[in-house]
Amino acid sequence: MDQLLIDRLVMAILVLCVYRIPMVNASYPALFAFGDSILDTGNNNVLVSITKCNYPPYGRDFNGGIPTGRFSNGKVPSDLIAGALKIKDTLPAYNDPKLDPKELPTGVCFASGGSGLDTLTSTFLEVISIADQLKMFKEYIGKLTANVGQQNASEIISKSLVILSAANNDIAITFSLGRRPIPFPAYSNLLVDWTSSFLKELYALGVRHVWAFSTLTLGCLPGGRGSVGGVLCNEAVNAFAVEFNSNLEKYVTSIKTTTPDYDVQYVDVYNPLRNIISSSPVSGFTNKINGCCGGNAVASGELCTSLTGQCTDTSTYVFWDFAHPTQRAYEIIVSDIIQKHAQQ
Ligand SMILES: *[C@@H]1O[C@H](CO)[C@@H](O)[C@H](O)[C@H]1NC(C)=O
Ligand SMILES: *[C@@H]1O[C@H](CO)[C@@H](O)[C@H](O)[C@H]1NC(C)=O
Repeated sequence: MDQLLIDRLVMAILVLCVYRIPMVNASYPALFAFGDSILDTGNNNVLVSITKCNYPPYGRDFNGGIPTGRFSNGKVPSDLIAGALKIKDTLPAYNDPKLDPKELPTGVCFASGGSGLDTLTSTFLEVISIADQLKMFKEYIGKLTANVGQQNASEIISKSLVILSAANNDIAITFSLGRRPIPFPAYSNLLVDWTSSFLKELYALGVRHVWAFSTLTLGCLPGGRGSVGGVLCNEAVNAFAVEFNSNLEKYVTSIKTTTPDYDVQYVDVYNPLRNIISSSPVSGFTNKINGCCGGNAVASGELCTSLTGQCTDTSTYVFWDFAHPTQRAYEIIVSDIIQKHAQQ
């Protein structure tokens, strides 16, 4: 065998070992997702909005190439977490007009790409605010109750897991564009206050298990690098993310004291993504800078609309477009999350 072939085989074996997400028997009967495009599985498809992606090349690697409205080339963390917890393979969007009522007892997705904790964010991007996602959840509980009865519905909600990914667009778009002209520490406190209100509403509805995601490594996203293109990460943007994440973690930790029967965990997504970007080539990623689609326009800040200018192999790219990791990158991040948070 020549050296190139050996290298490729070694790489393939490493890739197989590294990317298998552990499956766990964590006994959550259902999964619900709230927040932004990291978790959205197609809720924006029915909206009149600029922020949707139910067209090629999105979904290029999803079941043979179906653009479902997921903001990636394949599955997103909602799906990968539902799969790893043995709930189901994909988490359907609540807004899907073809949603099968049989999906209700195992959970659905309410997240909306472009949304955030700040209402300015969802208004600007014409998407579903967190408040409206909660309204959808209340409507869902009514449907679930009609299907399985009051007692079963309450049990499903209290044993279920909620995942929340928010603040990415608030910081990267609303704050960065100067739409909230206040100092960042004040904005960060507001974001935590809004998270707190959201978590309290979930608790009042019977939810007892939540994983609250940190933001992504915002300054390392192709669109977040902005004017300092050429370097891997914009550390000034990352500093905002780090400050908010630290405030969020502190708040989430304090819930254990104030509400001991509320199992809310802070989930670090920032460092797992940062580690992928800074790790050696052993991860199999050959491009950690550009999005696979959208060409090399590092700071385009737009969703991909053209079929030309795509990379050939998505599994060698960390990023799918200007802001969203590829399924391969998400698999590594979710693997880390499952190992840390899904202890039985
Ligand atoms: C998970 O549950 C299945 C079926 O009950 C069982 O066969 C398997 O050993 C369990 N795995 C672990 C890691 O406990
Ligand atoms: C509640 O769940 C139990 C056990 O799964 C089932 O036997 C029962 O039919 C359910 N109740 C209703 C009203 O659907």
